[in-house]
Amino acid sequence: MNPKIYQTFQQSELDAVLMYHALAQNAKSDAEKALLLRLGAIEGKHAAVLRGITENGELQPTDAMAKPIALLERFAGRRVTYFLVSLGEKAAYYLYQPLAKQHPELQTNAKEETEHGDTLQWLAKAIK
Ligand SMILES: [Fe+2]
Ligand SMILES: [Fe+2]
Repeated sequence: MNPKIYQTFQQSELDAVLMYHALAQNAKSDAEKALLLRLGAIEGKHAAVLRGITENGELQPTDAMAKPIALLERFAGRRVTYFLVSLGEKAAYYLYQPLAKQHPELQTNAKEETEHGDTLQWLAKAIK
């Protein structure tokens, strides 16, 4: 597998941190905000695991995910946005699988993406 793929994942995890920060800014309760920030912190941990593989400490978080998701949230609202992001999280589990074959430590990242998907769907349903 092209080793560049690990850097691509590392960048996506870093970008996901800022996406959750952006979502947390528009949370409607302290509990919702804390939950989103917790998910963001886990994405940061995922990036660190990948950094251990790529040994690339130069990558920085960008707003590549935060920007379009914040825009989506403005027009579609929190419920739809959380649901759509949950689908990305659940897809991420499967995207991780070929990488986890070579680096089994990535299986924890993969499983936590599924949990993020579940958390977001729970949150989406909790919104009236
Ligand atoms: Fe992640
Ligand atoms: Fe995630």
